[in-house]
Parts: sequence; C-alpha cells; structure tokens
Amino acid sequence: MYCEIKDILDGKFDGKEVELKGWIQNKRSSGGVQFLIIRDGTGFIQSTIHKDKTDKKTFDDAEKLTQESSVDVIGIAKKDKRAPNGYELEIKKLKIFQIADEFPISKKDHGPDFLLTNRHLWLRSPRQAAILRIRDTVIKSGIKYLDENGFYMVNAPLLTPTCCEDSTTLFETPYFGKKAYLSQSAQLYSEAAIASLVKVYSFGPAFRAEKSRTVRHLTECWMIEPEVAFLDFEGNIKLQEELVTAMVKAVLKENKKDLEILKRDIKPLKTVKPPFIRLSYTEVIDELQKNKFDIKWGDDLGAPHEKFISRQYTKPIVIHRYPVEAKAFYMQPDPKNSKVVLCNDMIAPEGYGEIIGGSERIWDEKLLRQRIKKIGLPEEAYKWYLDLRKYGSVPHSGFGLGVERVVWWICKIDHIRETIPFPRMTNRLYP
Ligand code: 4AD
Ligand code: MG
Repeated sequence: MYCEIKDILDGKFDGKEVELKGWIQNKRSSGGVQFLIIRDGTGFIQSTIHKDKTDKKTFDDAEKLTQESSVDVIGIAKKDKRAPNGYELEIKKLKIFQIADEFPISKKDHGPDFLLTNRHLWLRSPRQAAILRIRDTVIKSGIKYLDENGFYMVNAPLLTPTCCEDSTTLFETPYFGKKAYLSQSAQLYSEAAIASLVKVYSFGPAFRAEKSRTVRHLTECWMIEPEVAFLDFEGNIKLQEELVTAMVKAVLKENKKDLEILKRDIKPLKTVKPPFIRLSYTEVIDELQKNKFDIKWGDDLGAPHEKFISRQYTKPIVIHRYPVEAKAFYMQPDPKNSKVVLCNDMIAPEGYGEIIGGSERIWDEKLLRQRIKKIGLPEEAYKWYLDLRKYGSVPHSGFGLGVERVVWWICKIDHIRETIPFPRMTNRLYP
C-alpha cells in the first residue's frame, strides 16, 4: 500500500507492507546490510536492504544509489528502537527513478554565498524544510484567523503608478513608454476596498529597493495587510495581537518536530498571548538615552535600538505614537499631541525587531492633501486616493505584517534569507 513516511512514524503501518517514493538523504553499508535514509517531504525513515533477505538485483541496485537519488521502494515497516525515528523499513523491492550526480551540498560547512547560489538544492535540507513548513503554518494560520473573523481577501496590483511608503526605495520599471513602480504595500488599494467590503486584507509580495545589507532586509518580502473601516488605533493594536498570537499558537501546535530540528526553545513562544508589552516611542527614547544610546527625540528607531528593547521581553512589544516626521504621510496625528501620529510598530522579542507597521489613517481630505504636498509627493498621482476622502470618508486603520520577519523570529534564526524559498537581496538575484 502506498503511504507517506509520517504515516509510518505515526504507527499506522507497523508490521505491514508499504510503498514509498522519495529521495536518498544518506547511505552507509555494514557487512551484508545497506542502510538508506529515505526522505519524502513528510519526514525521513531509516531503511535497510539485507543481502540475504532480498534478491541479488535489488541489493546490487541499492549499491549504486547516491545521495539525492530518487526511488520508489516496497518494504515492511517495523517498530525498531535502534532506528533514529523509532521505525525502520525493511526494503524488499527497489525502483530507481534517477541516480543523482554527486550532490554539491555535503555535511561540511559551506559559506552562505555557496548555499544561496545553490538555494534550489539547499531547500531540501531538513533545516530548510522545517523553516518552509513553519512559513506555511504562519501564512495559513494568519489567513485562517482573518477569514474566521469576517475579512475578505482583496488582491492589490503589483505594478503601480506611485509610492506608498518611501520614494527612495522604489523599484522602477518601464511601462509602455511610461514608468511604473513595483508595489511597496497594498495598503492604499485596501483603503479603497474597505468602502466596499469593510474588513479586508491583502496577501502578496512587496518590493523594497533597500540598499541596506542587513540580516532583516529583503528586497522582495511577503506581507499580510489587514485594513478595516471604522477601526480605531486601539482596535488596530488588538487585531495585531490576536493575529500574531494565532500564528504562534498554530506553529506550536503543528510544527513541534520542525521547532526541534531548529533547536528552538519554545518556552518564550508559549508566553505569547495578549496583551503584549506597550511602550510609547517617547518612553523608548528615554530608556535608550538612559542606556547611553546616541539618539534624540524625533529620530527613527533603528535595528540596534529595537534589539536592545526587544531583548528584555519574551512577548512582542508594541511601540506607539512615533513623531510625525519619522513615519509615512498617511498617518493620523494624535488629537492629544500633534507632534506624534497614531501609529505603532510591533517588535518581536528575544533580540529581534520590527514585524508589523500599522496606523490609523488620515481620513480628512484637506489634511491628507497637505501631508502629500509637504512631503513632496506628486498630488496628481494620488488623486484617486484623495477621492476616497471625498465620498463617504470614515475613520479607519490597518497594518502590514512581514511574513519573513515573523518566521525569522519564530524560528529564531540569525538571517532573514532562510525564511523565504528564494531570497532577493541587493546582491542576490540568482537562482
Ligand atoms: O512598516 P512597513 O513599511 O509598513 C507598510 O508598508 C504599511 N503600508 C503597511 C500597512 O499599514 N498596510 O512594512 C510592513 C512590514 C514591516 O513591519 C516588516 O515586517 C515588513 O513589512 N517589511 C520587510 N520585511 C523584510 N524586508 C523588508 N525590506 C521589509 N520592509 C518591510
Ligand atoms: Mg515599518
């Protein structure tokens, strides 16, 4: 009977004959026995071929197998304490799809550049597969949470006429004699969709021509961006807390083995429940100054600042009310203090950094027009966006959650490049 490795490891086929398709992850032989570690995307299993228990052809064929060769095997699944996963497959029949060339990735330490150039092959390593599965859970649990809470998915264009966040990080592309820009965020379009559907979110890639070569910047990242009509600043933060909690909870439930592969200490993750830590931007500046950081009120927070604050907690930190000048043009000023806007970043704990940026949006047409002008953006390009403030404008809020940033923290890995199947960075466009 055809089955997957996880079913064998779950004990469903103990003592039974099964058929598996997969790859040879590792091979060794000892006397008349060949040990093959077979992998199939759901797990790996130690398999044996005994000279005296199979026909000669099967045994000889097995000798030809190299790491990453692809096979179809039939054998008996057996509980065995000595096997790495507690189960072993005693192979009776072997069909080879392909004998792999010598695999360039071995157990020895390769530099990151070599691994990234071979990303198409590196993806198969148990560690990378674990990260990919966790990424899958993060995305699906996020979407499930939004879906169960009445949100509609609305897709925004990726080719756009204007910038959303920062005109210095735009990717420009020719567009039939004109210029287009790759989307930095779906937000502006989602703001249009809320007047139709009230609660929406987009899920898609965002492009940032960030020159910075850091451990947390990609030039192509994926965002989940909810936007909600009539939602205020406080409600927006609560939504962020619930969404992130749902993601962490799902990973703890569905990716236990993957977290083990990554040697992730799950104790801090178990503390992730609302309410998260709240600090105002001003409080953070005070704290940083007390700790001898060279920063003044008005400066944006950078990675070292976020890291310092973040190290002190196991739950995410919501930093709110940044100075107007440090943030994007569309953010609503705080009615109690016009120097700051009703925005927040969410900072992942344990020494990580920003995973979410969100705010209440300006919904008054005159004020929005002033902000667009002050920042020097071309007003004609934002005519449609200003229109939204003319036809039934309402208070509204939203945020963008960076999928790779969340995976980076949940997996507790050093560099964001491992959190996406094919990372795009300033110095990396291949494969
Ligand atoms: O804070 P950002 O720039 O916010 C926006 O784009 C808003 N328009 C979103 C919204 O309100 N709908 O980006 C949102 C999140 C960041 O907090 C970060 O997690 C992630 O997207 N992000 C990046 N992740 C990896 N590499 C980059 N270069 C990123 N830029 C942003
Ligand atoms: Mg941000």
